[in-house]
Amino acid sequence: MIFNNRFLIIFLLPLYWATAFGFTEYLLKTCQQSGFCHRNKVYSQNILKTKNSYYSIDLSSINYEVEKSKSELNLFTANIIKTIPRPDVGDIKVVLPISISFLKDTNSVRLTIDEDRHPELDNSISEILNPYRYNETWKWAFDIDNKDILQGDKLSFYELKGSSNNVISLYNRDNSIKVEVYTNSFKIKVFYNDTLVFTVNDRLFMNLEHKRLKELNFQNINPEETPYNMFGDDFEYSKDDTLKFGPESVALDFTFNNMENVYGIPEHADSLKLKDTSNTEPYRLFNVDVFEYTIDSPMPMYGAIPFMIGTNKDTSAGIFWVNAADTWVDIAYEGSDTKTHWISETGIIDVVLFLGKSPSDLTKNYIKLTGKPQLPLLSSIGYHQCRWNYNDEPDVLNVDSEMDKYQFPFDFIWLDLEYTDDKKYFTWKPNSFPNPKRLLNKLARLGRQLVVLIDPHLKLNYFVSDSVVEDQGCVYNSEGDPFIGHCWPGNSIWIDTLNPIGQKLWDGFFKKFIGSIKNLHIWNDMNEPSIFSGPETTAPKDLIHYAGFEERSIHNIYGLSVHETTYDSLKEIKDGSGLRPFVLTRAFFAGSQRTAATWTGDNAANWDYLRISIPMCLTNNIVGMPFIGADVAGFSGDPEPELLVRWYQAGIWYPFFRGHAHIDTKRREPYLLDEPDRSIVREAIQLRYALLPMLYTSFFNAHRTGTPIMKPMFYDKTMYPELYAIDDQFYVGDSGLLVKPIVDKEATSVEMMFVPGIYYEYTNLSPLIINGIVPQSRNIDAPLDIIPMFIEGGHILTRRNKYRRSSKLMRHDPYTLVIAPDVYGNAFGDLYIDDGETFEFEKGEYLETNFSLNDGKVLKSTVLNEPQFDNVLGNTDIYEIKIATAAIKKTVKKTVTIISGSNKHEVPLHRSEDGNWVSIRYPKIKVDETWEITF
Ligand SMILES: *[C@@H]1O[C@H](CO)[C@@H](O)[C@H](O)[C@H]1NC(C)=O
Ligand SMILES: *[C@@H]1O[C@H](CO)[C@@H](O)[C@H](O)[C@H]1NC(C)=O
Ligand SMILES: *[C@@H]1O[C@H](CO)[C@@H](O)[C@H](O)[C@H]1NC(C)=O
Repeated sequence: MIFNNRFLIIFLLPLYWATAFGFTEYLLKTCQQSGFCHRNKVYSQNILKTKNSYYSIDLSSINYEVEKSKSELNLFTANIIKTIPRPDVGDIKVVLPISISFLKDTNSVRLTIDEDRHPELDNSISEILNPYRYNETWKWAFDIDNKDILQGDKLSFYELKGSSNNVISLYNRDNSIKVEVYTNSFKIKVFYNDTLVFTVNDRLFMNLEHKRLKELNFQNINPEETPYNMFGDDFEYSKDDTLKFGPESVALDFTFNNMENVYGIPEHADSLKLKDTSNTEPYRLFNVDVFEYTIDSPMPMYGAIPFMIGTNKDTSAGIFWVNAADTWVDIAYEGSDTKTHWISETGIIDVVLFLGKSPSDLTKNYIKLTGKPQLPLLSSIGYHQCRWNYNDEPDVLNVDSEMDKYQFPFDFIWLDLEYTDDKKYFTWKPNSFPNPKRLLNKLARLGRQLVVLIDPHLKLNYFVSDSVVEDQGCVYNSEGDPFIGHCWPGNSIWIDTLNPIGQKLWDGFFKKFIGSIKNLHIWNDMNEPSIFSGPETTAPKDLIHYAGFEERSIHNIYGLSVHETTYDSLKEIKDGSGLRPFVLTRAFFAGSQRTAATWTGDNAANWDYLRISIPMCLTNNIVGMPFIGADVAGFSGDPEPELLVRWYQAGIWYPFFRGHAHIDTKRREPYLLDEPDRSIVREAIQLRYALLPMLYTSFFNAHRTGTPIMKPMFYDKTMYPELYAIDDQFYVGDSGLLVKPIVDKEATSVEMMFVPGIYYEYTNLSPLIINGIVPQSRNIDAPLDIIPMFIEGGHILTRRNKYRRSSKLMRHDPYTLVIAPDVYGNAFGDLYIDDGETFEFEKGEYLETNFSLNDGKVLKSTVLNEPQFDNVLGNTDIYEIKIATAAIKKTVKKTVTIISGSNKHEVPLHRSEDGNWVSIRYPKIKVDETWEITF
């Protein structure tokens, strides 16, 4: 939904047109305008010249008798001493406790650096504020139920005395990771199997702005520092920031040694491979509402996942910067290294460094730490029809039936803001939705679901906001009074879901609102939070949250706290039925994947936003939050039919697939299109539904191991440098489907990149052979009714071909297997099935079957897991098995033999006219049986 500060737009329009494309950019700080970013940039530039080091480890503070040369423990602790040279008054020394540990089972090193504060000696801080640095971002980001991981693993410890710099070496359990801590001039080197992977504080950019009194500020800065905006804020929209603690930023630099490619740190509307920012703004992570955001830009957006992945041919490494404050990241590709500089406004330095062979090792270990991406409702990976707004019950039911009339399958319909009574959440507009239960029951007949919007801002003076204020579950202003700001309903307060009281209240509202309704789900929008009257479209940084922590410290986890609390409430309500809740969130952080889907926010109906949606989704997919999509076909503006068609053809590959439109746009439900566009879009959505068995299997694999659902070309194929920068084509999970959506107006063909091997065009299985040893591009025909898509040889796809009105109605349909052998005649595939809606899969109530073809001769199924109860799976019959023949021609006979249990029968092979494939119809076998077919 939009940020729409008309007042600002009127007064600043001339300025904005002069400087930027996006509507919101002028509202946001540049690094130069941001006090702490500016200071750290200046510091880093000066330090590069002087190379002065002000941080060293106090050897006497080490939690270990240094005389012993070897010991065992699971946490290394010591004090870093920050020195401010003051010949006049004597050096100032600041104590910064550091800890290093190896996290279990994740091939990772955790480093924390805090400040030893003494509030008892400092009466400059008001009593309503917590005097310490916020050190609990990890409690929201990590999967704290996984206690095993949080315990440090065994660590061995050696001290080596060097001539100029003492070095302490720490080894993990199997000695594969070595951490060298340089104590004189603080620096850390991280080795993986003896290869140097990271150098921490390589360029001496470490900076921790310690607590000092304003009057003594001049004494407390080093020669390379600037005092710019340390105690005030010059920026037009945040002049009122009280900055009660003064400067408190934390910054550190990390060099990825011998790696020239880094990815991740969403959310930005930018390329998949991150850009060198030496001559641009740094990437900024700060959750804000950016209507029609600027694309190809490092500007901040709705969500923030401070996880960066670097890779070369045989090693991969990740930096997870566990900090929820406003953060800027600079990247410099220098020679064969990538140098990064991380700057956060406050909090502590808490960082986890992951090491692995390949990017998949990193994602897998990252989700062990931060939690598995949820396995969503099967129906929620179908098509979602949304609009701001469907006006009333007849409107909703009309869309519902028109979709059926024109044979567009769909599962979810959505109600934006206007369904509420006067923008009061947890209410329904009485005349438009007089009987929500009736509406929901009608939708439920075809297994359909409804999502309604509930945001964290609560209109003043009604039963919900009243009780939040009364029970003290709201966010407070810097004076300690309930914060009142401007959002959709006008003056509003904000629920504080970091506060257990806020969580309990939220829970209570949902219990009342949802009651026993099963097919009602929630959309948390505007939870950055978006505040129309606030600085940079969001909350003033000096607002106060639970336990006296400022917004400044927790900003990027607020949205996560809202959607996680929403999810927990829904889960509890639905416990009786055991159904999985569905929650969509706009703001996100590391860990959001556990409980919510997200989308790329307020885009617009033009080709550039279609193009950028693909790298944006790919980025989220490699940092553990795969359930993402972009609004089809652009939220604001009216898409021309060609754009709408191409956007649906791209949108069917988004893990979260939703059509959505702004209130000022024309109606554009897909059935409103003229022919042939209507049929082309219908075919695309029906293709999405046909592939649901494969997609749901991909969601399960994402849940289990973090495997991306939209997977970048380089991800499993780091041996090909040609793929590192490709972000306009992708694989779908592990299925072997390779897709390149068309994102250019009037395109009739497209260049597509293939690694050596054999590929089959998806619809007719005609082969495309790529010889040689390097990836090559091919020109692929793509008139308006064609989506360029291939199955990579070596894969087996499962689908259900028949059109049904919703995913639930497909449960009774049989499966088709499509076998795409590689050049050796081998192919593999897997299929996951469960009831699609409950948590019973966690108790083993699911089917997992592997299919394999060996040497083009024997096709086998292997059932790996079976549910106990019959009703879990639906129809498991196989209707047809289709085999592409280009790679196995010589071995194909007229009939095949099927062995299933003690049963053995011959069946004829049907051949396609073009000779591209053969097929077995009605083989009388099932996907949940073990069988063997010999060609
Ligand atoms: C977080 O900070 C508080 C206050 O300094 C301290 O008591 C606590 O031990 C810290 N927690 C961690 C995990 O470092
Ligand atoms: C590093 O060594 C470990 C333990 O010997 C091994 O399991 C792992 O595969 C090695 N990793 C790389 C990238 O060589
Ligand atoms: C089943 O297939 C999956 C995906 O291809 C693979 O990772 C797994 O190892 C296979 N399991 C067995 C037992 O073959």
